[in-house]
Amino acid sequence: MIRVGIINVTGYAGAELARLLYLHPEAEVTSVSGRSAAGKPLAEVFPHLWPLDLKISSELDEVDFVFSALPHGASAEAVVPLVRKGLPVVDISADFRLSDAAEYQRWYGVTHPAPELLPKAVYGLAELNRPAVREARLVANPGCYPTGALLALAPAVKGGIIEPDIVIDAKSGISGAGRSLGLSYHYAEANESVAAYAMEGHRHLPEIAQELGRLWSKAEASLRVTFQPHLVPMTRGILTTCYAPVADGRALTKAGVHALYEDFYKDDPFVRVTAEPPQTKHTWGNNLCLIYPMVDRRADRLVVVSCIDNLVKGAAGQAIQNMNLMLGFPEAAGLDLPAVYP
Ligand SMILES: NC(=O)c1ccc[n+]([C@@H]2O[C@H](COP(=O)([O-])OP(=O)(O)OC[C@H]3O[C@@H](n4cnc5c(N)ncnc54)[C@H](OP(=O)(O)O)[C@@H]3O)[C@@H](O)[C@H]2O)c1
Repeated sequence: MIRVGIINVTGYAGAELARLLYLHPEAEVTSVSGRSAAGKPLAEVFPHLWPLDLKISSELDEVDFVFSALPHGASAEAVVPLVRKGLPVVDISADFRLSDAAEYQRWYGVTHPAPELLPKAVYGLAELNRPAVREARLVANPGCYPTGALLALAPAVKGGIIEPDIVIDAKSGISGAGRSLGLSYHYAEANESVAAYAMEGHRHLPEIAQELGRLWSKAEASLRVTFQPHLVPMTRGILTTCYAPVADGRALTKAGVHALYEDFYKDDPFVRVTAEPPQTKHTWGNNLCLIYPMVDRRADRLVVVSCIDNLVKGAAGQAIQNMNLMLGFPEAAGLDLPAVYP
């Protein structure tokens, strides 16, 4: 068994890593760290994790593989010495997702502490970067919104079937904001209400633009992307609806688009192209991304709906998928789960 450590097990992503890894056939969580709960048994802080007999410490013990589930900034500081020591790491924060340190500083407001590691970090969306993830020692786990948006758009952008004018409309459950307290996330504020936020630009926009740009091959026009997130009163899940005009001269049909998407994802264990629009409940607690592409013939527009669980395919599950690839385990090891229903 591989000994796994989780830095910041006391956040939502860290706790979800511990829950999912409990079922992993090749890896065992042997060490977990957290700041305010250091010294306490894990099951005292998270009673749902009682089968894991672990104590939360302030620093990880010796392990073979590390996940960092810290907020950005703090994560890079924790991860850099481990990477320099040669430990394989998946960082769930945003710290190694943007390849340009100046762009990171612009969006996150802090100077990157280790810009020299950025070219070595691999963006961990296995469906687009599987060979590189297999070779990586440092994987930047994608953000939750970018995961849903990129998987919805990649076949269309790479296939050149749309004009370079994309609108991404995404709705997230409240766990996407983490466990830290904030007025907008109080029950009385968020329940029975849906709100748009970050209308001047969300931090996930440069990540989405960076990765879509890598797939876009038409040099004559660059991609224009509008990304608008919304908060909805549910615990988990992201539903993303993407819109783009069909490329000039393409007579796209729903069946044709379906076939393109099916073919693009034919070797991906965690993406399913669905016959009906998916709902967040269909991926609640599992690592799947469900995608429904269609063509609005009246407006000649491609419309694609995707859904994921933000804490699983959008965070902890995808991180384990990346670990599996990095360590040569079957990609779906420990992750082959149905969703929770109802
Ligand atoms: N939530 C999601 O859906 C999601 C999805 C994808 C990626 N992510 C990323 O995953 C990471 C963790 O997110 P999360 O939602 O799990 O976070 P979270 O639940 O908000 O965890 C935050 C906790 O981190 C600890 N913390 C904050 N600053 C710290 C610091 N400087 N040093 C040590 N501990 C610190 C605090 O714990 P104490 O109480 O111990 O101080 C705080 O309660 C973030 O980088 C986030 O962007 C989250």
